[in-house]
Amino acid sequence: MRKPKVTVVGAGFVGATTAQRILEKELADVVLMDVVEGMPQGKALDMMESAPIEGFSTAIVGTNSYDETKDSDIVVITAGLARKPGMSRDDLQAKNAEIVGGIVGEVASRSPKAILIVVTNPLDIMTYLAWKKSGFNHRRVFGMAGVLDSARYAYFLSLELKMPPKEIEAVVLGGHGDLMVPAPEFSKAKGKPVTDLLPKETIEAINQRTRDGGAEIVTLLKTGSAYYAPSSSVTAMVEAILEDTGRVLPCCVYLKGEYGIQEMYCGVTASLGREGVKKVIELKLSSESQAALKQSAEHVKEQIAKLTL
Ligand code: NAI
Ligand code: 2OP
Repeated sequence: MRKPKVTVVGAGFVGATTAQRILEKELADVVLMDVVEGMPQGKALDMMESAPIEGFSTAIVGTNSYDETKDSDIVVITAGLARKPGMSRDDLQAKNAEIVGGIVGEVASRSPKAILIVVTNPLDIMTYLAWKKSGFNHRRVFGMAGVLDSARYAYFLSLELKMPPKEIEAVVLGGHGDLMVPAPEFSKAKGKPVTDLLPKETIEAINQRTRDGGAEIVTLLKTGSAYYAPSSSVTAMVEAILEDTGRVLPCCVYLKGEYGIQEMYCGVTASLGREGVKKVIELKLSSESQAALKQSAEHVKEQIAKLTL
């Protein structure tokens, strides 16, 4: 039987580490595509040379041509500019819209049945653009951000609770920006709601560190942004899709009235499988989280309105 095929467009920090994780987990063969000549080929060869040590049987090719991406099951789009210190995700919009729009045209015609996972920032707006440009059903176009933001939230909660990160379940909804919505009422440590374990002010401080999570890394790195946790997050989505697990993950998906949000992309929990988004899971949010989600979605909507489609 043919192995699944995942194309990763953009062989930079996020793209290359995503490719590496998919290969090492043996989820799929990978095509790593970038405009920089030689770079994706060099990274792919380097990864293949680790196969005898790591023992994976999946394969990767690096390329500057879209022809090798033909008939991909999933296309992950990480191409674009990354944030620099002092730069908001929204500052990236115009430049990355040009890049993502061009890429979607190339991959959609060669892989008409693929699922598109958008990573490029500003995430919610680029995901909307990818959906529009592809002409695909919205169930097959979604974005990665919620898995990352929720993982950051879980990690920060684990530090405060002095518990292993894997014992924490955390949920962050909304757009991938300063108005994202950590939802403590759905965040648990060993099954106990964190709202029963930590004072309100401590939770609020952790919520704020989560909202600033991307910027904290940018400030430390000085050039470029996070990629280890982002690539883990994309890989978790790829795994849920290819293995058709129905795993519920926070993702940027198309909403048709859920939480009162109409016909736009925003971060909510959704179940993922072979067909893409199986189901949007609508949580019963506190009135505070519901109001914050509305505000976050309104900001995304304003940014979408600035797109030239
Ligand atoms: P990077 O600069 O390391 O890699 C970007 C790559 O895209 C470069 O290798 C560049 O040559 C390539 N590229 C540019 N134009 C292209 C085109 N037209 N076709 C193919 N490749 C092209 O950046 P990094 O760190 O990998 O981040 C990539 C994007 O992901 C950024 O927009 C960043 O803000 C975003 N990001 C989003 C996250 C999320 O949670 N959604 C998390 C982390 C990063
Ligand atoms: C992050 O949150 C840059 O959006 C990216 O790390």
